[in-house]
Amino acid sequence: MSGEKPPVEFCKGVNGLEKVVLREVRGSSAEVYLYGGHVTSWKNDHGEELLFLSTKAIFKPPKAIRGGIPICFPQFGSHGNLEQHGFARNRLWSIDSDPPPFPTVSSNKAFIDLIFKPSEDDLKLWPHSYEFRLRITLGPGGDLMLTSRIRNTDGKPFSFTFAYHTYFSVSDISEVRVEGLETLDYLDNLKAKERFTEQGDAITFESEVDKIYLGTPSKIAILDHEKKRTFVLRKDGLPDAVVWNPWEKKAKSMADFGDDEYKHMLCVEAAAIEKPITLKPGEEWKGRLELSTVPSSYRSGQLDPQRVLQG
Ligand code: BG6
Repeated sequence: MSGEKPPVEFCKGVNGLEKVVLREVRGSSAEVYLYGGHVTSWKNDHGEELLFLSTKAIFKPPKAIRGGIPICFPQFGSHGNLEQHGFARNRLWSIDSDPPPFPTVSSNKAFIDLIFKPSEDDLKLWPHSYEFRLRITLGPGGDLMLTSRIRNTDGKPFSFTFAYHTYFSVSDISEVRVEGLETLDYLDNLKAKERFTEQGDAITFESEVDKIYLGTPSKIAILDHEKKRTFVLRKDGLPDAVVWNPWEKKAKSMADFGDDEYKHMLCVEAAAIEKPITLKPGEEWKGRLELSTVPSSYRSGQLDPQRVLQG
């Protein structure tokens, strides 16, 4: 019985990489690799996987794990001179045994604190000292919460961009819609980051999409019609939201992604991209993501987006 297992278990994952399993008494669970500080699994209390992880994911440095929740830091995408999405996602993180306290005390037992500090080699790539602390918590209802705290431990200011590159598992991408981003401005990565305004209804999918929505609300919903499941994403400190699906052609060009897997995933990424975060010496930034699911009985046109967004 999963209820008898400890709320936090340290074990080995693929290729002997260190992994932490979080369990909540009602049966939900999450898995976190120290490689990348990367959540690779989030299951509800029925044992159903809620995140997408490619069957072709490569669990070997320097490749980032394809799926789950990669951390993009200190650079999102190609918005700078560093490697795509920065290097935090392909570095080995450590367990943070004595993290600074959070302002609110939580009674959750299923959580882990990780820390990432730059190595000498990392400092050659990006010459700034910092402590990046990541707390990953599985809440009593099976909600998954990630809190990043990045502190400038350097003598000069620095700026960075960031994303929780979440891969959601969906039944069929053609049956999915995203609510909360309608009418917003976005930068289109498929059109040289040109700025457009989203028109009309909720966002649905019929071809490759790679957009950075700007000034997004703190709550975004992903409705999976076939699964009758709605993911609710709540975020704080992260004004932007990337929506990405590679579709057929790009999927085929990716070595660590199955040809048809684009049908069963959607990335909606809570991010800070358009306006980089600047930290003065000693300052700390906090970025929070909370994921939950609610059953949805969506049938075309019946669901009032406002109701989802307020619920
Ligand atoms: C998305 C970007 O966040 O990540 C896309 O907007 C990119 O442009 C995708 O293709 C995957 O990136 P990567 O480096 O993990 O293959």
